[in-house]
Amino acid sequence: MDTLNVLPADDRYARCIAASRRVRWDIDADVIRGRRLDFAQKFLPDGLSQVDRMGFLSPSEKRRLSQIQGRTYANIFGLVERFINAKVLEISRDHWLGNQQALESLVRFSDEELKHQALFRRVERLAAEGMPEGYTFAPDPDEVARAVLGRSTWAVLALTLDIELFTQAHYRESIDRDGELSPLFRDVFLHHWKEESQHAILDELELIRHDRDLTAAERDLAVDDFIALVGAVDGILQGQAAADSRYFAETCGRALDAEERERLAAGVLAAYRWQYIFSGAQHPHFVKVLSGLCTSTQMARIGAALERLA
Ligand SMILES: [Fe+2]
Ligand SMILES: [Fe+2]
Repeated sequence: MDTLNVLPADDRYARCIAASRRVRWDIDADVIRGRRLDFAQKFLPDGLSQVDRMGFLSPSEKRRLSQIQGRTYANIFGLVERFINAKVLEISRDHWLGNQQALESLVRFSDEELKHQALFRRVERLAAEGMPEGYTFAPDPDEVARAVLGRSTWAVLALTLDIELFTQAHYRESIDRDGELSPLFRDVFLHHWKEESQHAILDELELIRHDRDLTAAERDLAVDDFIALVGAVDGILQGQAAADSRYFAETCGRALDAEERERLAAGVLAAYRWQYIFSGAQHPHFVKVLSGLCTSTQMARIGAALERLA
């Protein structure tokens, strides 16, 4: 990716097409391969689930909590990829007539996101097979997408860059030596990352292209929109962390005391904020791209908003 970053935009679109063709995978033939999830294994690595920080849980309870978080991982990606794909289709319009390589790269991007949503729906069903009744995922992907797409394109592209960079960080966490990690989930991280690497480059190209047409006042409002979107993501995470902690407490087979319940809820929320906000927002490349577009006052505003969540 680093060599790609220094190439002119036209070459970068072409490289993304070539990479997309080279890494293309199939849900069944390459990822699922007839397997089911093994509930004797963790679904998320500790670096993401942070269950290793919850000393009051037994090893089997930590494993179960990582499985619940893995199911939510599939649902969250199914949700964010809905609005990402809609935005990609929308901005592809700018290239309908003109740069056909840019158009092809975005068409492939969209096709891949539709496939990823289908993959995550499969993972959700596989995770549901081994879990007791009662798990809930309340947010509706279409409703969330409608709200997100009501914000400025600059803000949606910045949030998308954050998300697509953190899928790379998540893949890196999944290749640690943890022998307890599900090989099927490991393959989900690996294959998702392979295609997301191109998406992150395209997000950046499109964000910079779009940014050039904004006035300083429009950009300033877009920064507010970005902060509002991060706040909306956090609202979803708060709701889901509470739902998942409750589900865990009801199904873990013992009565957690009030203090344990509190530590559980706080730990799951911290893990979700790390997974879905900070692992992207603190990514050096995200900070670099945003700093190239925003004034230092705007960067400080974004930084302060993120700090309020930490
Ligand atoms: Fe994706
Ligand atoms: Fe993507």
